[in-house]
Amino acid sequence: MKGIILAGGTGTRLYPITQGISKQLMPIYDKPMIYYPLSTLIQAGISDILIITTPEDQGAFRRLLGDGSQFGIRLAYAVQQRPEGLAQAFIIGADFIGDSSVALALGDNIFHGSQFSASLGQCRDPQGGIVFAYEVSDPSRYGVVAFDESGQALSIVEKPQQPQSNFAVVGLYFYDNSVVDIARTITPSTRGELEITSVNEAYLRRGKLQVQKLARGDVWLDTGTFDSMSEASSYVEVLQKRTGIIIGSPEAAAYQS
Ligand code: TTP
Repeated sequence: MKGIILAGGTGTRLYPITQGISKQLMPIYDKPMIYYPLSTLIQAGISDILIITTPEDQGAFRRLLGDGSQFGIRLAYAVQQRPEGLAQAFIIGADFIGDSSVALALGDNIFHGSQFSASLGQCRDPQGGIVFAYEVSDPSRYGVVAFDESGQALSIVEKPQQPQSNFAVVGLYFYDNSVVDIARTITPSTRGELEITSVNEAYLRRGKLQVQKLARGDVWLDTGTFDSMSEASSYVEVLQKRTGIIIGSPEAAAYQS
């Protein structure tokens, strides 16, 4: 399985800082933000990873991460000319993906938890798509998934005004190789983006989308705002100091996987 980290975007919610630096290079406590999704992919057993950035920021990511050999992995780089949506990652990365399955991690999403870590290992050979849902208080900001009584996903709607549930689809997605063709066939949304929700809907229509609710003790943090960055930094600081275990360390993830 290949991995992609999407680390472009404009980061308008973090202006003026992101006018000078990529959001995904900013610190979450003692590490750059991208270390966290990078560690997640390594934890999932993935060692071929493509980093997609804006054209301006690629040099800085290369300086930080190099070819990945210090973590025992292989890193490749590509640019996204304009932020035209998450699903564009599969078009930009089509040659890199080849005939493999692929995991996409958003560069500003942090996951932590023992059950989550255990479930990562089961996503390596998806027969369709596997995504995760997390209960949030403000679902209208996200792709929202509704479930039937048996826990089967019924629908996924991007930023609904009247959400059918409080479950948001989070920024880590596992797909079989057909994701490349699906990404090429979907059309941009009214905001001009190739939406990952359109990809998930295509899998759902085929009966091939598995939506796993994250366990109660698992934590998902989307670090796209000043408040959420600050909360994530505090979370990492407290946990590291209390448990002595480092969160978001590619070296530790590589050592353990
Ligand atoms: P968002 O947080 O939705 O967008 P953004 O980072 O541009 O920030 P803002 O809303 O404040 O303007 O993006 C989620 C992640 O995906 C983030 O890590 C950036 C990345 N991204 C891309 O790399 N390309 C894209 O086209 C989009 C939409 C996002």
